[in-house]
Amino acid sequence: MKVLILGCGSIGNHLANASRRMDWEVSMCDVDPNAIKRTKDLIYPSRYGGWDDKIKFIEFPTSEISKFDMVIVGTPPDTHIDLALQALKIKPKCILIEKPLCGLDFSNIDQLINLADEENVKLFIGYDHSLSKAIAELKRLLDNNNFGKVETIDVDFREEWSGIFAAHPWLDGPSDSYLGYSKRGGGAAGEHSHGIHLWQYLSKISGQGTVTSVNCTMKKFKDSYVDYDKLSIMNFKTDKGLLGKCVQDVITKPSKKSARVQFDKGFLKVSFAPKLDIISYSIENSNDIKELRFEKDRPSDFILELTHIDKCIKGDFDVENSPISINHGLDVMKIIKTAHISNESNSIEFIKPISDLI
Ligand SMILES: NC(=O)c1ccc[n+]([C@@H]2O[C@H](COP(=O)([O-])OP(=O)(O)OC[C@H]3O[C@@H](n4cnc5c(N)ncnc54)[C@H](O)[C@@H]3O)[C@@H](O)[C@H]2O)c1
Repeated sequence: MKVLILGCGSIGNHLANASRRMDWEVSMCDVDPNAIKRTKDLIYPSRYGGWDDKIKFIEFPTSEISKFDMVIVGTPPDTHIDLALQALKIKPKCILIEKPLCGLDFSNIDQLINLADEENVKLFIGYDHSLSKAIAELKRLLDNNNFGKVETIDVDFREEWSGIFAAHPWLDGPSDSYLGYSKRGGGAAGEHSHGIHLWQYLSKISGQGTVTSVNCTMKKFKDSYVDYDKLSIMNFKTDKGLLGKCVQDVITKPSKKSARVQFDKGFLKVSFAPKLDIISYSIENSNDIKELRFEKDRPSDFILELTHIDKCIKGDFDVENSPISINHGLDVMKIIKTAHISNESNSIEFIKPISDLI
């Protein structure tokens, strides 16, 4: 596999390292020469024990660009759609766009989806938590046990963002990147949208359908530099009538990241921590709570993600059923935008097609 990674920031380095561990050929690109220097001298060596001379740096877009099997868009969310449109010209087999798909400007989403479809380029959105061993086990438990009827789903994706800034020592704070701007894809709803993604995914795999309405209250922060949602409390209702809640924030410390499905005969919960994911569950009205532990590290998160995409490209996994397919990523974006509208209008808002959300 030949991979082109756009963006030499935190995620660009993670995915470059994961690609190299899979013995793929890696080229990287960034508009900022300092980011390229930082990748070579600081980020990659400090995280993975040394620079890898096999990684090349190229300019993008360029007329002499060679063929790549995969393009990874690892730049700020408000640049994703334009870069993915440019990446389509290379005709890769797939494009992995980092989460969230975009900022709150939806203008070119339909164009991207239609062109990718015409060119037969598969699009994925980087919601890697849904590909973790814990979520795979959760799905297996769900498929093989009698938990009863789904009553509600609760997701928390809450993390004060000093952890994020610790991984970006070159940033001075939220105003220094997209993170401090909800419009650019930052703030709690955008940055922690793994939460919305998990809620939807759990609803789907437990037969509870897709989110049709959102009732959201946000706590916002605005000054002369930044404008973002610090806390987004979202109530969802699905087309099958399920009611549930997803809370995302950039204030909770220590972080709280978990997803819980309550059934009438038991529950199923997954908690995420940096090195350990834990599943707890009970079935058939039993008081016996079982626990399963999944040790992990950061590189393995991304190796699992790239392995999954590789299988999809080779036809070993049906893209339509991929937890990170573009359809799921699009649904997340519709929910984020609708959550902002709901907060502004102080009302329950129904999910609309992309063309009505531009
Ligand atoms: N899946 C995950 O767990 C995860 C983790 C971290 C980040 N992310 C996502 O990855 C994306 C990037 O986040 P980050 O933390 O790496 O940001 P970052 O600020 O560390 O890096 C982004 C890089 O993109 C570069 N860039 C901007 N415009 C560009 C362009 N047109 N062409 C090439 N390079 C360009 C910037 O110069 C910067 O170096 C975001 O969407 C973020 O949400 C996902």
